[in-house]
Amino acid sequence: MKILEVDNIFAGYGKSEILHGVSIYLEKNEVITIIGPNGAGKSTLLKAVMGYISIFKGDIYWKGEKVTQLRPDEKVNRGFAYVPQLGNVFPSLTVRENLEMGGFIQSKEVIEEGIDKAFELFPILADRARKKAGTLSGGQRQMLGMARALMTDPELFMLDEPSAGLSPKVSEEVFSTIADIHSKMGRAIVIIEQDAFQSLNISDRGYVLVMGQNEFEDKADKILANEKIREAYLGG
Ligand SMILES: Nc1ncnc2c1ncn2[C@@H]1O[C@H](COP(=O)(O)OP(=O)(O)OP(=O)(O)O)[C@@H](O)[C@H]1O
Ligand SMILES: [Mg+2]
Repeated sequence: MKILEVDNIFAGYGKSEILHGVSIYLEKNEVITIIGPNGAGKSTLLKAVMGYISIFKGDIYWKGEKVTQLRPDEKVNRGFAYVPQLGNVFPSLTVRENLEMGGFIQSKEVIEEGIDKAFELFPILADRARKKAGTLSGGQRQMLGMARALMTDPELFMLDEPSAGLSPKVSEEVFSTIADIHSKMGRAIVIIEQDAFQSLNISDRGYVLVMGQNEFEDKADKILANEKIREAYLGG
């Protein structure tokens, strides 16, 4: 069953159109990776799905319901969550305060439960609960950004370049955590990545986006084995 369907959307900033007819879908519990060169519109696609920018044409369906023009908070209420490429934590707040903010739509008890769960999934954050987020390492910040977005117990989890700026070892940890989240919580996950090997390794399918349009799509293992795609988009 398709849980999310993005059907031929045109979207952008103000009057400037960046996405010229992009389509993706996600089955329940599927993990997909979206790759593509700088400026292809990958981040713009997630912002459009989340409701942060205007969709000029085309539609988005969530469990069969048309949600194209819903606001971000309405999307959050339906189970959407999004970890932006940058600025995914509040540096001057503590780790715990960041998590509380992430659970803003819920009751106090549910927030406390969510924090307990987050500390189980990300033990490193439990040790640093009272530290300011600004003092965390890049990898720890990324973990906190993910934990914060998971506070609303989302069904759709979208991550914009979770490994950006991280060392290979730390980015490996981030991807194994994402795989862990998927196996333990069974969420539909969309990952955008420049460095796509690790991401495709934990994905079911992948898309290549170029200049605001779909260029290619296939099963993740097929993409990893595709010489042309490897050369063009995965650095050989
Ligand atoms: N806030 C904005 N206002 C106007 N144009 C924007 C804005 N953000 C991005 N753009 C433009 O939209 C296009 C696509 O940008 P986007 O950030 O979606 O690409 P991307 O595929 O995520 O690239 P990267 O791999 O560098 O993150 C670019 O031409 C960019 O300049
Ligand atoms: Mg981007």
